[in-house]
Amino acid sequence: MIIAQISDLHIVGDGRPLFGCVPTNAMLSRAIDRINALTPAVDAIVATGDLVESGTPNEYATLRTLLAAARAPVFLLPGNHDDRTALRAAFPDHDYLPAAGPLNYAIDRGPFAVVAIDTTVPREPFGLFDRATETALEAMLEPRQAKVVLVATHHPPFATGIWWMDAIGVRGGARFAATITRHKNVERVACGHIHRSITKRWGGTTASVAPSTAHQLALDLADDAFLGLTLGPAGFDLHAFGDDGLTSHTVTVGKPETFFHVAATQLPAMRAAMEKLRAAMATTSEP
Ligand SMILES: [Fe+2]
Ligand SMILES: [Fe+2]
Repeated sequence: MIIAQISDLHIVGDGRPLFGCVPTNAMLSRAIDRINALTPAVDAIVATGDLVESGTPNEYATLRTLLAAARAPVFLLPGNHDDRTALRAAFPDHDYLPAAGPLNYAIDRGPFAVVAIDTTVPREPFGLFDRATETALEAMLEPRQAKVVLVATHHPPFATGIWWMDAIGVRGGARFAATITRHKNVERVACGHIHRSITKRWGGTTASVAPSTAHQLALDLADDAFLGLTLGPAGFDLHAFGDDGLTSHTVTVGKPETFFHVAATQLPAMRAAMEKLRAAMATTSEP
């Protein structure tokens, strides 16, 4: 089984470039064209959140139109930019989505499974892995102990070293790690949210972050780094399940790395908000 993981599509309803220079809608179309052209064909596409920019019905309608070009079935998971209710309403035929609450689900294909866990908190940028999330994940993993499992989620459960993204990471990462550690058949925890390709040994398995199909985060681990963004190389991850486990590839699409800047007037307020969240992250106990 081959799965394409697309992430952080940030689709806009009016088609105007995000930040004035990121044509997110066209970039998703390019990624889908690339996935459609792969040989052998992918069996499924999993989208790990931030499907749209603001969570509006208009954006989800646009997303639906763009995803219709995909040849493989698409499975959707929300990120912090999404709205569960609007997402469900726009995709009533996606019957794997629960009718209420977090959008957790499992996809079974013979000896392989994708288990999707929703870490989003409505109207908050950070994620949460509390007791209820643990119970939901356990309930999906427990009956799949004989399968090779990829866990898909939006917020990476580990610190990335990019402080302002770690400020809006997942609260309850230790609980998440303990849950995954109990299930040795989890071959991968595949995340989004960071807009760049990252890999880490975590929870007794490999955790990875897929690039965005749109804008990327510049690699800047300095304490004074803030909101470095680039156009390209956008892309997606390709996860191939085989007899020897799971092998993953990052596929780039479009132009090479080109830096751009968010309007300077927006930066102080955004930075102050992130610093407040970093302080909250440091003092919040395990949920
Ligand atoms: Fe994102
Ligand atoms: Fe996100």
